[in-house]
Amino acid sequence: MSSSDSKKTDAPSGMRRGLTSYGDTGFSLFLRKAFIKGAGLTDDALSRPVVGIANTGSAYNPCHGNAPQLIEAVKRGVMLAGGLPVDFPTISVHESFAAPTSMYLRNLMSMDTEEMIRAQPMDAVVLIGGCDKTVPAQLMGAASAGIPAIQLVTGSMLTGGHRGERVGACTDCRRFWGKYRADEIDDQEIADVNNQLVASVGTCSVMGTASTMACIAEALGMMLPGGASPPAVTADRMRIAEQTGTQAVRMIAQQLTPNRILTPKAFENALRVLLAIGGSTNGIVHLTAVAGRLGIEVDMAAFDRIGRETPVLVDLKPSGQHYMEDFHKAGGMRTLLRELRPLLHLDALTVTGRTLGEEMDADRPPFKQDVIRAFDNPIYAQGGIAVLRGNLAPGGAIIKQSAASPTLMEHEGRAVVFENLEDLAARVDAPDLDVNADDIMVLKNIGPTGAPGMPEAGYMPIPMKLARAGVKDMVRISDGRMSGTASGTIVLHVTPESAIGGPLGLVKTGDRIRLSVRERSLTLLVDEADLAARKAAWQAPGERPGDDRGYRKLFLTTVTQADKGVDFDFLRSTGKGGATPLPP
Ligand code: FES
Ligand code: MG
Repeated sequence: MSSSDSKKTDAPSGMRRGLTSYGDTGFSLFLRKAFIKGAGLTDDALSRPVVGIANTGSAYNPCHGNAPQLIEAVKRGVMLAGGLPVDFPTISVHESFAAPTSMYLRNLMSMDTEEMIRAQPMDAVVLIGGCDKTVPAQLMGAASAGIPAIQLVTGSMLTGGHRGERVGACTDCRRFWGKYRADEIDDQEIADVNNQLVASVGTCSVMGTASTMACIAEALGMMLPGGASPPAVTADRMRIAEQTGTQAVRMIAQQLTPNRILTPKAFENALRVLLAIGGSTNGIVHLTAVAGRLGIEVDMAAFDRIGRETPVLVDLKPSGQHYMEDFHKAGGMRTLLRELRPLLHLDALTVTGRTLGEEMDADRPPFKQDVIRAFDNPIYAQGGIAVLRGNLAPGGAIIKQSAASPTLMEHEGRAVVFENLEDLAARVDAPDLDVNADDIMVLKNIGPTGAPGMPEAGYMPIPMKLARAGVKDMVRISDGRMSGTASGTIVLHVTPESAIGGPLGLVKTGDRIRLSVRERSLTLLVDEADLAARKAAWQAPGERPGDDRGYRKLFLTTVTQADKGVDFDFLRSTGKGGATPLPP
């Protein structure tokens, strides 16, 4: 390939994509090739379509610990199809190693992903994500970058064994820690189980946010069929990686760009799957954010309507009893989609270039298994997540009803208010805390700007004195999030958040609150005049050290509320042609 064969009319591809010429395109390409030849590449290699591979391997992210093997397999797939694979690093975000919260960094990772796709020459991109925030960040970035993109996940970790019992991160982490807090197990046992909860590399082994986002990516059509469930260390996972590389090359010829796949129908399919898997509440925030990148609105009323007709079918922790490796052996998403078929938009396009319905028609026959229930024999008759409204949450709030206590879902109680995370930490275990099992715990200032970054602190600990008395669940309300691996009667994402003047910020200890999941309502039983007076006297939390510069300033000044996906306002679609609502 000589520099003079670049015709101005050709769409730039391969090493030509994104060439900055300053008037002499031939020289720029000559220079670019000279540099990449420093890595030993030939002109033959450089004449191929280029598939970028977003490498999110990091020693701080054991959930992505198999990234080197996956990259090797993806590269093999790309080369089998005649392409040139080029891997490149982006930010990697792990749940436990991302202060103040991983959510705070999700948008930064999406920007990194988008701009690196745009900046470097590639005709398609394979996104290797896994841990909770990484898959949404990659889908958001790829949706905005606009070139053909295909999602690969690292896959779930193996389960471990503790004294004859199967355990996995991190529903069991919470369960054992709860026992330890309640003095039911000793120091030795808590240390022993700590070695077993994460038995290998890979993502959490329950239907937490990582597994939820893997299933959602497949339901959206952004992943190969069957790609969500193979565990990280299996041959199935490596085969999916190879096939993903091969498909990435094919997507170039068909120009299968994200906007052709991520349509309102695809999002509705994904919402159905989120509900049917008893998926993480974070899934709704992430889906809203990805949709927002394409000008598609995920309307909470529509989501609740979908929820009333979509049962929970997947029997995985935290809503059920099994783990991701069991889901995989039960046929994974293939088995689930078969059950959901009457509710799905079968004409939605996928990364294979075929529709979801065509992929399902080509499917294997069903077999007997006990992890994914038949449509008429659900784990839970309605979808896992319900949307609440009322004077306490004018912009909506959610509850994972499939993981809540049935006895608390219709409940009125006295509010016990914590002003922020520090206040919670200082008082929740105090022996003289005035709290009873019937009270409703309220935590303020953990919304998008409040903490900041909307931490997964909505899963407030049961006050020590009640935990020791055997109380396992209480109604808890906040403007924060909850880990996908947690359970309890926990109201989350109260919008607008308290730190920007939402009604949650006006609640006082002693107020009465009524939760009715049946009526989908969340009501602060304080009269309007009283609330208006409190609102007039309300003061915004003051500026904290570090709020006035850098990424933190960008975050605080541009982050949207939960109902807009907690994306930055300037990253959402500029809406040429307006937002596209979900299909009726
Ligand atoms: Fe990474 Fe759970 S901590 S998936
Ligand atoms: Mg999480």
